[in-house]
Amino acid sequence: MSFIEEIESTKQAALDGLAAAADLAALEEARVKYLGTKGAFTALAKGMGAVPKEEKPAAGKALNVAKQALEAALTERKSDLELAAAAPTVATDFTLPGRRGALGRLHPLTQVTEDIVKSFRKLGFVVADGPEIEDDYHCFDALNTPADHPARDMQDTFHVGTSRNAAPREDGKHSLLRTHTSSVQIRCMETQQPPVRIIVPGRVYRRDTPDQTHNPTFQQIEGLYVDKNVTVGDLKGTVEFVFREVLGKDVKVRFRPHYFSYTEPSFEIDFSSSLVRKMGKDWLEIAGCGMVHPQVFENVGYDPEVWTGWAFGFGIERIAMIRYGIDDIRLFYQNDLRFLNQF
Ligand code: DAH
Repeated sequence: MSFIEEIESTKQAALDGLAAAADLAALEEARVKYLGTKGAFTALAKGMGAVPKEEKPAAGKALNVAKQALEAALTERKSDLELAAAAPTVATDFTLPGRRGALGRLHPLTQVTEDIVKSFRKLGFVVADGPEIEDDYHCFDALNTPADHPARDMQDTFHVGTSRNAAPREDGKHSLLRTHTSSVQIRCMETQQPPVRIIVPGRVYRRDTPDQTHNPTFQQIEGLYVDKNVTVGDLKGTVEFVFREVLGKDVKVRFRPHYFSYTEPSFEIDFSSSLVRKMGKDWLEIAGCGMVHPQVFENVGYDPEVWTGWAFGFGIERIAMIRYGIDDIRLFYQNDLRFLNQF
């Protein structure tokens, strides 16, 4: 056998060996056997010295070509075997149903808020917004509730930065967490001319100890309507319409005289329905309202001789508690999925 024939037959044996390797370990064995430092092919290369001079160039070339072919075959077989090793050993059943991610849902308070907003939108109201970190001017003074007014006692709150008795800010105001959404009435009227038709859903804060019916954080919806010749009749009709949409067609609404410093006259709104009777009561107090006080119009630069209006405010938790028969306000704020999944 000539040297070149020897190269050919060794190459063929090596190629067969590589191809026959059934896994990566066997492939490594084959590599060592043929291409390792003591391998058959390496031994062949060492035999070059004995090849006659005139045959050397052809023999060298054949050796190189064979070596390249072997290296290419090794690389290819290696990547095939690696792929096979990485493949799943157990067959996948592609007909099985997929895994679905759990879908969240809206918090009950959000659901109730959206329903109330939807209902007011039908009457042409738009949603307005204001800061939760308010100042005492917008929360109280502009609403005709000066610093020495006893109505402030019922809405003690959290003062931000400095205490209530500390020196005011440079603009003479104190920062505080708003106690009601009524502050947004002022902010809206300060920046827009009448007519105004807004509702304001939002978070409010009071210095309250949590119990079954109180939480230091809760949600309100404020309403404000300013136009010419607005009456208490408009107010009652609007409130009745919305409560019937949100709490059922059998809702009855009743106004009782009350006092708020930013409305005159002022009322508390009671409502009655099968839901209320289920709670063992005839009437349930649900909101405060009244005709906007002329002093409030003065404070925002509206002429009280020209403009009339009404406003109301109520707590969203209370509506949700009645609607769903929930007896503890704290449940809304505990993020317990066993509770939230029910809505
Ligand atoms: N701000 C009152 C509260 O938090 C609710 C309220 C009463 C709002 C009368 C009004 C209103 O707009 O006219 O208790």
